[in-house]
Amino acid sequence: MVKVNLGGCSSFVKDADYKAYVEKALAAWDVLDAESGAGNDFLGWKTLPVDTPEQLIVGCEAVRDDWQARGVDLVVTIGIGGSYLGARCAIEALSHNFLPKTGAPRVVFAGNNLSEEYLAELMDLLAVSNAACVVISKSGTTTEPAVAFRLVKQYLENKYGRSEAAERIVAITDAKRGALKTLATQEGYRTFIVPDNVGGRFSVLTPVGLLPIALAGFDIRAMLRGAADERAAMIVKSADNEAVKYAAMRNLLHTGCGKAVEVFVTYNPKLTYLAEWWKQLYGESEGKDGKGIFPASVTNTADLHSMGQFIQEGSRVMFETVITVENSNRKVVITSDPQNLDQLNYLADQRVEHCNAMAQLGTKIAHIDGGVPQLEIGVEKIDEYNLGAIFYFFEFACGVSAYTLGVNPFNQPGVEAYKKNMFALLRKPGFEAQTEEILKRI
Ligand code: PA5
Repeated sequence: MVKVNLGGCSSFVKDADYKAYVEKALAAWDVLDAESGAGNDFLGWKTLPVDTPEQLIVGCEAVRDDWQARGVDLVVTIGIGGSYLGARCAIEALSHNFLPKTGAPRVVFAGNNLSEEYLAELMDLLAVSNAACVVISKSGTTTEPAVAFRLVKQYLENKYGRSEAAERIVAITDAKRGALKTLATQEGYRTFIVPDNVGGRFSVLTPVGLLPIALAGFDIRAMLRGAADERAAMIVKSADNEAVKYAAMRNLLHTGCGKAVEVFVTYNPKLTYLAEWWKQLYGESEGKDGKGIFPASVTNTADLHSMGQFIQEGSRVMFETVITVENSNRKVVITSDPQNLDQLNYLADQRVEHCNAMAQLGTKIAHIDGGVPQLEIGVEKIDEYNLGAIFYFFEFACGVSAYTLGVNPFNQPGVEAYKKNMFALLRKPGFEAQTEEILKRI
């Protein structure tokens, strides 16, 4: 289960102020619990860990088994934003850093950018693979995944024929609406539904996350169990509720102490995409109405040698939220060397994880001394169960935190601005007036 440690903030805030923010966070918890706040038609994520039907999990496992039988060694997962970050986060966190997983296809991601080189190189990979594709878009109309999917679909059809290609494509989209739904129905693709009441960035425990994670060979049942256990802790109203503690402190540091930036810190490169997922969740949920904490991230100790200087001594605008993992899944001991030319014998017989932990502790003390408050989010280890718990914790805490801040956590009106300009510049039918307008400005 997730544990929040606020000890690294105590020298920056007064006890009475923290208590006042806990009261605000508890009021926000009530709003989330009663489903009485802005965006309350997007709260389906709250009960996903306990009401995901067995049939859905079996459906994911059936695709996995079918593609295994076809010898599929590459799954291209197409989606952007909330339609890919959760799956990518889990797969990167659970995968070997260097080696492929035995008995499972490689899962790669596309449709999250418009880089021509990226897509050309994806085609190179398809040419040497036995491929299948999961295309994910709740709206079914997003440009980036639509472009990637058109190319991958045509490639699969040319290589395998239209009917075999249809067996190698799964669509995850809205139950009724959107171009992807129309296409999937016409081509007879297996289809999973993104529930109406779950927004993209809260969708990792729907098929959007579950199917790619299952295809990569990981245990989605354990993930849902972890999320369910975390939910049981989250739905208890208390000043000790870990989400209430996190929401109260980050809002106090922001509104009460003027901290504008939250830096999400990990000490394991496998968690870099956890930070990416978290940044979208908090950035899109809170950054609106001229409000919000800017979510940034670093992966240490690598980034102590790049961003560390700024965090230690630059503008005092940030606090840190550090993911602390209690147990490493692997053990590496530093050996002794009779010559000791590298002068590392003082570390002989120590685990590398001990060095990592001391780097983390040393950094904590240095950053606190440098004026950077530290929140710590602790988990026991990185596995499917704990990732499920982490996902649920941050989603629930995001709802509490955004209501504490006074914004609707579940919309993202600002995302449309670039799209309108891009469509106008690309001369999309229907955007003629905007095209005239924007051409005058460039
Ligand atoms: O959180 C969100 O709602 C967004 O990030 C969406 O997930 C993203 O824009 C992709 O949208 P769609 O799934 O409709 O293609």
